[in-house]
Amino acid sequence: MRKNIVAGNWKMNTTLEEGVELASNINEALKASKHNCDVVVCVPATHLVSVNGVIDRELLGLGAENCSEHDKGAYTGEISAAMVASTGAGYCIIGHSERRQYFGETNEQLLAKTRQALANGLTPIFCVGEVLEQREDGSFNQVVRSQIEALFALDPADFAKVIVAYEPVWAIGTGKTATAEQAQDMHANIRAAIEEKYGKEIAGDTSILYGGSCKPTNARELFSKPDVDGGLIGGAALKADSFMGIVEAFD
Ligand code: PGA
Repeated sequence: MRKNIVAGNWKMNTTLEEGVELASNINEALKASKHNCDVVVCVPATHLVSVNGVIDRELLGLGAENCSEHDKGAYTGEISAAMVASTGAGYCIIGHSERRQYFGETNEQLLAKTRQALANGLTPIFCVGEVLEQREDGSFNQVVRSQIEALFALDPADFAKVIVAYEPVWAIGTGKTATAEQAQDMHANIRAAIEEKYGKEIAGDTSILYGGSCKPTNARELFSKPDVDGGLIGGAALKADSFMGIVEAFD
């Protein structure tokens, strides 16, 4: 059975003090909340150890926003999957569109990062999504299919551990949400691609999250779609109240 998951992506926001406070507030709110999903916060690497110290890991999962495609060595400034795992984190976002766009991450690198995450016991949250031009010229289904196919070199047992996040780039931080129908269509397209490669069982068990201007006001409608298994939340994850409003859309 696939899981419902709501994950926050804090991006390059919050100082350490602010981040620890936000994580504790979310943790407190989760104690009193009725929700029917796993909840994760993906935080800046500098915050991982401290956030891990203030959350109850039974209630709230912890992840990084990126990891290196290399094992270790002379890569100044990089953070390996082993380092991320050694902080206590259990998840890692891989291939966010901002990493693809601003840091030129390629499909080969993203496969290598995913392998690193898996080898170190981290659950990858693998992001895919088209830009506005591809939405408008009609190539979006093919674009997203080829992004997910970058992982099809994985063994079935490894692929089965991956969480997929569909984030149309035109909806990220823009206030423009994909309609629930657009999200459902793409999620079904992604699940069909996974089914062709790995079969019905793995495809049926893969959690596919939606991301892009997801808010308490639209989460319920998005999550009501059969192939939308939760959300990857940017802006609305930076306040405990709005993040909880999305978490509680799974009641
Ligand atoms: P947003 O970001 O919710 O601020 O649109 C989502 C994301 O980039 O993960």
